Amino acid sequence: MNHLTSWSDLSTDVWDACLERALWHRQNSAWSDAAAHKALGLVFFNPSLRTRTSMDVAAAQLGAHAVTLTPGNGTWGLETRDGVTMDGLEAEHVTEAFGVLSRYVDALGVRTFATLTDHRADRADQAFRAAVAASTVPVVNLESARWHPCQELGDAATVTETLGETRRKKLVLHWAPHPKPLPRAVPNSAVMMAARLGMEVIVARPPGFGLDADVLELAKKEASRTGGSVTESADSAGALSGANVVYAKAWSGTSVYDDPDHEATQRASHADWRIDVAKMSRTDRAAFMHCLPVRRNVVVTDGVLEDDRAAHVLQAEYRLHAQKAILEWVWGLEGSGFSVQGSPAG
Ligand code: CP
Repeated sequence: MNHLTSWSDLSTDVWDACLERALWHRQNSAWSDAAAHKALGLVFFNPSLRTRTSMDVAAAQLGAHAVTLTPGNGTWGLETRDGVTMDGLEAEHVTEAFGVLSRYVDALGVRTFATLTDHRADRADQAFRAAVAASTVPVVNLESARWHPCQELGDAATVTETLGETRRKKLVLHWAPHPKPLPRAVPNSAVMMAARLGMEVIVARPPGFGLDADVLELAKKEASRTGGSVTESADSAGALSGANVVYAKAWSGTSVYDDPDHEATQRASHADWRIDVAKMSRTDRAAFMHCLPVRRNVVVTDGVLEDDRAAHVLQAEYRLHAQKAILEWVWGLEGSGFSVQGSPAG
């Protein structure tokens, strides 16, 4: 079954075909009946503007019908943990909920953010994997604790369209300040995306804000395959020098699980990591990227967002095209002109 949890679970043929198809969809933004008579269930445990809308429209443009559910808001609250006594707010378990939804729809999309309180559950992508385990139809990850593969594909298409040749171009994944501790699914996926494109990737972040070692190892392994590189730096100015792409993102510090007060203090002390016009002037006229939503003048200044090189709205547009490609792969719609050589690795 064609689940999409993380691109790392799949063969590079699937990634390459979906990327090519996402680029094609932007040039051929058409409605079709390729997925007529199919239904898509979208379950959002967390808020969304882009993913929710673009998934719904992607399904519609392919001729499918989408149903969006927000657990606890018009539907029963859903418990994702195994073996718990459900005497709290959640009235239904994902085992029954996703088992039932699988009887109604032909694929499910699920968003389950990191808890940022239960490290073991977040590292295991526990909530998302519980939804997959309970489903008997393909499941697409709409951002889990660990990964945001829909964002990753849309971002790869954005970089490819913006730069043309991506190999050996320099992308800086730049940590940014934020009043709240945020999950790492997007930075994890961004570093993998750039490694897949053969880029020279620098993760620029203050001390105490490194990404998980296993994610960096995975990205380095991917870069060794594509001819790219992945390094870390605590020197923002040095990292930005000569960059072709600056991808800004806030994420929580490594102490968020054990000492959240310390993490908050550390985060507040790095307000000078905000991206501004002076920082962008160090680059090689870099494109600016952000997954959105973005807090203006906290993460990045108005001047950067309003510059011609800002690509954040194109990124958001590419979510639609990328997700049409993903749904075509999930449903095996080879007849639509989309084909994948090879099969999933996992
Ligand atoms: N980037 C992204 O996933 O946006 P939403 O949270 O609005 O879906």
